[in-house]
Amino acid sequence: MTAPPKSFHVKSFGCQMNVYDGERMGELMAAQGLVPVGADAAELVILNTCHIRERATEKVYSDIGRLRKAAGKQGRRPMIAVAGCVAQAEGEEIVRRAKVDVVVGPQSYHNLPGLVARAAAGGAAVDTDMPLASKFGALPARRKVGPSAFLTVQEGCDKFCTYCVVPYTRGAEVSRPWRQVMDEARSLVDAGAREITLLGQNVNAWTGEDEAGRVRGLDGLIRALDRLPGLARIRYTTSHPNDMTQGLIDAHRDVEKLMPFLHLPVQAGSDRVLRAMNRSHDRSSYLRLLDRVRAVRPDIALSGDFIVGFPGETEAEFAETLSLVNTVGYAQAFSFKYSPRPGTPAAAMVDQVAPEAMDERLQLLQAALNRDQHAFNLGTVGQVCDVLVERRGKLPGQMLGKSPWLQSVHLLTSAGVGDLVEVALTAAGPNSLTGGPPNSLGALAAE
Ligand code: SAH
Ligand code: SF4
Ligand code: F3S
Repeated sequence: MTAPPKSFHVKSFGCQMNVYDGERMGELMAAQGLVPVGADAAELVILNTCHIRERATEKVYSDIGRLRKAAGKQGRRPMIAVAGCVAQAEGEEIVRRAKVDVVVGPQSYHNLPGLVARAAAGGAAVDTDMPLASKFGALPARRKVGPSAFLTVQEGCDKFCTYCVVPYTRGAEVSRPWRQVMDEARSLVDAGAREITLLGQNVNAWTGEDEAGRVRGLDGLIRALDRLPGLARIRYTTSHPNDMTQGLIDAHRDVEKLMPFLHLPVQAGSDRVLRAMNRSHDRSSYLRLLDRVRAVRPDIALSGDFIVGFPGETEAEFAETLSLVNTVGYAQAFSFKYSPRPGTPAAAMVDQVAPEAMDERLQLLQAALNRDQHAFNLGTVGQVCDVLVERRGKLPGQMLGKSPWLQSVHLLTSAGVGDLVEVALTAAGPNSLTGGPPNSLGALAAE
């Protein structure tokens, strides 16, 4: 028996959906009367974990060790709850290996208060169920959020790419009902959001019935959110190439609040590798899709995910990834070395690529992606656009915000957090831009 914790801290790893879940867990614990504090003072630490690559998983165990040691020096023993995808994948094993108090999966974290109470009463509490009833109904309403908020509308994945754990840790594809999404969007705007990013492992697979009972896709949801008073910007991520409908493409032409940005992972440029990955799109269908998006929205910023060193990937096949990157000209991207994950088909493939080859390929790929990101940023210099101010910068009077193309923009302004300001983009680096008042462009032209 230990006293029930009175304070908590949530630390989220991994994707934006985990960030969203972490926020909801925080709101849930706060609604129970627990006070949010720093990790070094919390009586309950919730580690909201990611299982996507081996290093992400191992980080959980080193984090638990570090937390225990630091608390031990202060004579404390905080309760530790492991949530998220490692919890789902490893379950009881985490209790055996790291003696944590609570293990809770991504589909059952609404049960956290009960699990914490059980753990306080003695013994470990584990819940990795994937109940049919959604957890969302059991969560408290949104109260206070920043200007840019996440809203999970779709969960899970039915695609089973051969390298990926997500279908196992998050379960099958499920869409949240229309009403629930619209209600949460409204409460996010009331709580301070100007921008909402709709989230899902395959967000563009979202489907549901609108208020009139018509079956709609993600584009229908976006068109309805467009009419939500107070909301200024809409984004969505992550999309799968096969779920990219013409309706959604057209929304990029018609919906002013929908920002010109599309994260559309491709993973590799070789058709043989894409087949072995079970991606169910090929190089040319992906490129044709991007052409269709660019036809309706020529300025769209494209983003992608890449894996180098998938089992059996040859130098020539990797060169096809580089050539795809050169063809597309991404505005930003994430790239990873392939990491074998237990239980996935690719982990059992015989021709794993040597680590040195993976290092070299990742370096080459990242050099190309960085070059393109810088070029994209430079290409927007001279434009006047709205920037959503998200936080203070390091210098006095400096604020940091986002352009429509999701670039970070530094600006000197009297505007506050949450304001949309008209800004001229005056200079660009590889990772961010500088903005000034709209009339500063004349000075730029005279330079
Ligand atoms: N649902 C999204 C993203 C899933 S995870 C999609 O399908 O695109 C985010 C990214 O992690 C993936 O796009 C992929 O690039 C990477 N990833 C997934 N499994 C991986 C593995 N075993 N090794 C390395 N990278 C991986
Ligand atoms: Fe993983 Fe593929 Fe599903 Fe994306 S589409 S979550 S990479 S299995
Ligand atoms: Fe990681 Fe789970 Fe997201 S494995 S990337 S936290 S869906």
